[in-house]
Amino acid sequence: MIEVVTVDITTLDVSAVVNAANSPLLGGGGVDGAIHRAAGPGLRAHCRTLGGCSVGRARMTPGFGLRAPWIIHTVGPRWHGGDRGEPELLASCYRESLKVAAQIGARSVAFPAISTKAFGYPPAEAAPVAVNSVREFLERDDHRIDEVIVVGYNDETFRLYEDLL
Ligand code: APR
Repeated sequence: MIEVVTVDITTLDVSAVVNAANSPLLGGGGVDGAIHRAAGPGLRAHCRTLGGCSVGRARMTPGFGLRAPWIIHTVGPRWHGGDRGEPELLASCYRESLKVAAQIGARSVAFPAISTKAFGYPPAEAAPVAVNSVREFLERDDHRIDEVIVVGYNDETFRLYEDLL
């Protein structure tokens, strides 16, 4: 089941919260900053041991101060007009994050709208990639994920998801 909510993702009581991070995984602004603030300094210290994350890939850490026991850090593509593999890389963020969630036996996963603000990916282009990638994964039978939350943190994103769902 996929549902859209407008909420601060750091407050969600889910198995895993996905972070729209950057490659060094050492924090930043936006949802990355919110997650690091809520998780506390232990998260950054742990991330320093990971050696970063490539675009389209996903790395898992404990949730530290979050209600969620796990955080899945993924690095979305920066938007360069859409003809440099951005859609495939964005789809990979969702797919790889769900694969990691399945490996830890997650039942519920919450995603921010990856790449759609600081990384400039137009929300109207990103929303169908996000929803289709999640739908395709949930149809597989090699996981126990029964709830995916996509957070529409602003009205535009919320409406885009709502229309698709
Ligand atoms: N909860 C849920 N969603 C949030 C929150 C929050 N607390 N804060 C921001 N968002 C939303 C934004 O409104 C946007 O829709 O997350 C989406 C992703 O925006 P960004 O956080 O800017 O992420 P992104 O576009 O992927 O850029 C990532 O920005 O913050 C830096 O370190 C980060 O370098 C990385 C880059």
